[in-house]
Formats: sequence, structure tokens, C-alpha cells
Amino acid sequence: MPSLKAAYPLYLANEALTPNQDLEVTDKYTGKVATRVAMADAATIDRAIGEAVKATEPMARMAAYERQAVLAHCVKRFQERADELAYALCIEAGKPIRDSRGEVTRLIDTFRIAAEESVRMTGEVQPLDISARAKGYQGMWKRVPIGPCSFISPFNFPLNLAAHKIAPALAVGCPFVMKPASRTPLGALIIGEVLAETDLPKGAFSILPATRDGSDLFTTDDRLKLLSFTGSPDVGWALKAKSGKKKVVLELGGNAAVIVDRDSDLEDAAERIIFGAFYQSGQSCIGVQRILIHDEIYGPMRDLLVKKARALICGDPREETTFIGPMIDEKEATRLEGWINEARAAGATVLCGGNRAGAMLDATLLEGVGRGLKIREEEAFGPVAILSRFSDFEAALAEVNDSKFGLQAGIFTRDIHKAMRAWDVLEVGGILIGDVPSYRVDNMPYGGVKDSGLGREGVKFAMEDMTEIRNLVIRQRPVE
Ligand code: SIN
Repeated sequence: MPSLKAAYPLYLANEALTPNQDLEVTDKYTGKVATRVAMADAATIDRAIGEAVKATEPMARMAAYERQAVLAHCVKRFQERADELAYALCIEAGKPIRDSRGEVTRLIDTFRIAAEESVRMTGEVQPLDISARAKGYQGMWKRVPIGPCSFISPFNFPLNLAAHKIAPALAVGCPFVMKPASRTPLGALIIGEVLAETDLPKGAFSILPATRDGSDLFTTDDRLKLLSFTGSPDVGWALKAKSGKKKVVLELGGNAAVIVDRDSDLEDAAERIIFGAFYQSGQSCIGVQRILIHDEIYGPMRDLLVKKARALICGDPREETTFIGPMIDEKEATRLEGWINEARAAGATVLCGGNRAGAMLDATLLEGVGRGLKIREEEAFGPVAILSRFSDFEAALAEVNDSKFGLQAGIFTRDIHKAMRAWDVLEVGGILIGDVPSYRVDNMPYGGVKDSGLGREGVKFAMEDMTEIRNLVIRQRPVE
């Protein structure tokens, strides 16, 4: 049985340091302190940025095969340490052990993709002789690393969403400083421990748990050339406003919708929707929040969903059979309980769930939720979804778009024309046909429009953001 260490260091310029053990990391199920972690103050963050600046050139000089070797080392070590990683995740995030193991496999995928992409950073040769004035001119461009990057990662995928920033940075040769979520810093710190086994140039990486107050430099310091933030929309857009000249990538939240059309296989759609709405207690930016069901199948689909939601096992995330563990903390669960009660008071029906004990909230489905209520308009980020009915497919598409968010949407239909129409008109970063919006493979472009964010992750796409195009123009002269 794996266990946690009594304390974890921070990483400053590739080196493990324990200046203090100020951060308590709790077991999110028992509420007890599980381990302690060193925290960085503003002076340490400032030093880390300075070291990253010094590492810019040595990192850019690394050959592609050397960058690939670092990433391949990580893949190997994560495979060897998979049980330990899953256990740490289960404790620090309260993520059910089966989902935790799933996240470790995704972590490995993300680094494996980066290892492959690291040797494929290509450019283009471009004829420039498009008019008489450019006769004899030839262009070509390549990608060069953007420089030191700043990463802020969230609590809901402590390993894989840290990996989606770290792995592309290493693939292109950018040094970085990272602030992992204070409630779940262990995943990123274990990645740091593995990176410290490599011979990356000094200053290539710093992983620095810090309080929100002490961590302004991650956003404001102009020595950093890119800020990549994953987290809540309010925080993300506020950070962008004070990020100065740096490039900004924001992976924010949503209130993702799924349409279930009348030709759907109800059993299959219900199975996937229950997964999409309730896995890891709905704490995913692409968790199913709005379920739009065709009138002709509304009754049977609703009954199936309620039956399946009631059957989910809630409890200790260490247990193999647990599907719903705690939310990240009691405050979050209380907030969401408040939203359910607000909807109930406004006339909505709670079909199942709605019960909270501490940080545990059971799988909740509602119907009859009117416009303007938080549970419809805002990001729930918990195990709650709302049902509504439609009779016209175009109206259902308009309803999906009737949101300030736009991350992913899912459509259960067998009609290719409806699928293509959805792809044309839905204002989201990605559409899944025959599945829930909650599905993601780590090499696909992933990100949102509207309040859901800016830019795309998905290794190759993040690598593009972490590079600049450098052009070369040649004026050809006759050979002497
Ligand atoms: C997210 O919650 O933003 C990421 C979801 C995922 O990677 O599956």
C-alpha cells in the first residue's frame, strides 16, 4: 500500500528545498492533515524567475533528442511510480481511486505525446515572389521558444493539468515557474522530483506552492513571456487584466450541455451522461451540467438517469467501488447546496440527491430550472445537473449557445446532418458526437471560447503558444 511522505519540498531552480513546512495538505475525505509542504515567499518566486531567465538560452540550445530524453525519462518514472501517484491524488484531491489511476494514465499519455512532438517542431519554406518587387526572394520560418513561462494549475486534475503545461514547455525548450493549487500541490511536486533526476539546465524549472497573496509575480513579472492559467473564470480573467505584455492562455470553466435526440440509444446515452455529470464529483470544467432531452424520450430518459444516479456509491475515495468522493472542501459543497436550494425555492424539482454531509454532496438531478438561476447560468463544478426538454433540434442548439461559456458540448444523434449542423453553429471549443462534453483525449485541441478561455492546450497546440515564429528572408543573387 503506497503512503505519503511526512513532508514534501518545493523546487527552486531544479533543486529540492525545505525552507519551511508551512502548507498543510489535508486528506479531503477525513479532513485530517495528510502531509506538509514547503511554501515559497515572494523573494523565492523572484529568485526562481531570475533563474528561469538565466536558463532561457541553455534550454533553447538543447537538441530535440535531448528534450525528448527528458520527457521519456518522465514517462518511465511515472509508469514505475503509478501506484504512488494515484494514491497521492486520491488523498490530496479526494478523487476516487479508480479515477486517480485514470488520471495517472493520462499524465503518462501527455508526457508521451510531448516526447513524440518534441522532435517534430517543423517550419515552412515560403516562396515570396508573389509580385515583381519580390522576384528572387525566398522566405522560411521556424519556431523558437518564447522564453520563461509562468504556470498556475488547478486542484481538480493536480497531475494531468500540471502536465499539460510542463510537458509542452519541455518539448519546445522553455524554462518555467509553476504555482500548483495550494489544496493539491503534491502531484506537481512529484513531477518536480522526477524532473530533478534529469540533467535539465539549472533554472529550467521551479515548482513553488504559494499563497494567492504572495504569488502576484507569477502574473505581473515582465520577465515571464507567457502565462498559462487553468482555473475559475473570475480568477483567470482578473489575472489577464494584470498580466502586462505577456501572452496569456486561459483554460477556464463552463456549464457544459449535452443534447439527447430522439433517435438515441437511451441506455448508452444515460450511462455516458451519468459518467460525465458525476465523475470526480462533477469537478471538471467539462462536467455535464445541462441535459437537453427530446420531448418524445423525455420521460424514459429522465427515469433512467435518476435510477442510475441513485445507484452511484458515495464515500471513501480509497474504496474501489466509490464513484462519488468528497468535493474539494466543505465550503464548496455548501455553496453548491445553496444553489440547489435557490432553484428549489424558485420552483425546480429535485429528482434525486440534494443531500450534503460535510464536503460530500450526493448525485443531484433537477428539472424545471428557470433562467437566471445560478445552477443554470454559472459553473456548478460539483455533482449536479439539470434536465430540460426540447422538440426542435435548432432550438436545442440555440439553448446550448445561450450561455456565457463555451468549452465543449455533446450530442447524442445518429443523424450526420444534425452532427454537421452542430459543428457549424455551436459556440464552443469542441463538439463530441455520440458522447458527453466531458470526454477528452490529451492530444486533441482543448480550450474554450467566450468566458471559458483563450487559446488551446493539447500538447501540440500548447507548444505553438510556447513558441514564436522566427522568419528568414533570402534575396537570391546570381552565382559568381
Ligand atoms: C478541466 O477540468 O479543465 C480538464 C478536463 C480534463 O482534462 O478532462
